[in-house]
Amino acid sequence: MKRATSAIVAEDLVRVYKVSRGYFEPAPSFELWGGRFLYEVLMRNLRKQVIHALRGVSMTIGRGEFVVILGPNGSGKSTLLKILATIIPPTSGRAEVMGYDVVRERREAARQVSYIPSLLGTTAWAKPMLTVEQNLKVMCRLFGFPFDEVIRMAEELGLLDLMKRPLGSLSSGQQARVGLVIGLLKRSPVYLLDEPTMGLSPEASRLVREHLRELNKRYGITVVYVTHHPLECEGIADRVVILDRGRVVADASPDELVRKAGVEESVTIRVYNAYFDLRQVVNKYDVRYLHLKTLHPEVGEYELRVGMRSLDEALPRLLEEIISRGAKISRLDVRRATIEDAYLYYVGGGA
Ligand SMILES: Nc1ncnc2c1ncn2[C@@H]1O[C@H](COP(=O)(O)OP(=O)(O)OP(=O)(O)O)[C@@H](O)[C@H]1O
Ligand SMILES: [Mg+2]
Repeated sequence: MKRATSAIVAEDLVRVYKVSRGYFEPAPSFELWGGRFLYEVLMRNLRKQVIHALRGVSMTIGRGEFVVILGPNGSGKSTLLKILATIIPPTSGRAEVMGYDVVRERREAARQVSYIPSLLGTTAWAKPMLTVEQNLKVMCRLFGFPFDEVIRMAEELGLLDLMKRPLGSLSSGQQARVGLVIGLLKRSPVYLLDEPTMGLSPEASRLVREHLRELNKRYGITVVYVTHHPLECEGIADRVVILDRGRVVADASPDELVRKAGVEESVTIRVYNAYFDLRQVVNKYDVRYLHLKTLHPEVGEYELRVGMRSLDEALPRLLEEIISRGAKISRLDVRRATIEDAYLYYVGGGA
């Protein structure tokens, strides 16, 4: 094994996808003389659109770090993870996992990672008629993994009561937890997880995160955890990388991220009777981001979430202006800034 100092290195990763622009129906006369075949070939090869999923992503992840990758839908998180898991190659740029290049040394690089695209996907290999215990035993034998340790994992994930139940009879969240155990039977230096808590209840997803954090601490496993819920970072992430439209827009520890975003406090204001441009009014004040939700435009009802450096001065003036323009305030909630506010700032809450 190579002695790499970093678990993951990505340099200027670019990934484009080419997809068809869609078909249109050719004229009936086109059907003659194999025209349909020619048409299909032309459509497939000429009418292409290019999608830039990653536009130059660079990052270094140290050994034993727990990194959360955050970003809105379509920002390139899954694409990045697939490149690191050697499932797809980058269009340009390079990436290394534990010192192995994901393209030139693909086989070795693939051995360094456990890629878990979704927890339910990992139970696809399991047999629904067999009990959870039987399934896990089969998998353990397959992967050469000690069963005692699986029992410990099952205990931590609250699965012990379910061990004698057929896998197929479990609820989807319970199956997802079994999926996590199966996904983790390949013990690798690097775990790549793509939204592992999707569809899980809050307490189940907390169990999953705590379990991953425990593995990270106990065995020094590097964990890259993809999600679009900023609050999932709390208490687990050493570092947070925010992707937006294929670019890294922030890369720091959770606390640093909040500090760098310059948001000290955030206020949520619900107004009605607001028949003027709220965005323009709010932007007159020193706001770091504004997230505007339209509730019932016919009665001028909106919800504003505003992040500010300090509310002391600006908030009373902002409220006064809103009221003086004829709007009514139905709810007001002031909180200290969290990672969610920093996230909204970086992905363009759009102040
Ligand atoms: N196989 C594909 N073919 C064409 N375009 C793709 C493909 N996979 C992803 N894309 C596009 O690349 C961009 C990034 O997609 P990606 O799946 O990496 O986003 P994501 O951050 O994981 O989003 P989500 O939070 O919705 O899972 C999107 O615009 C998406 O439409
Ligand atoms: Mg995704």
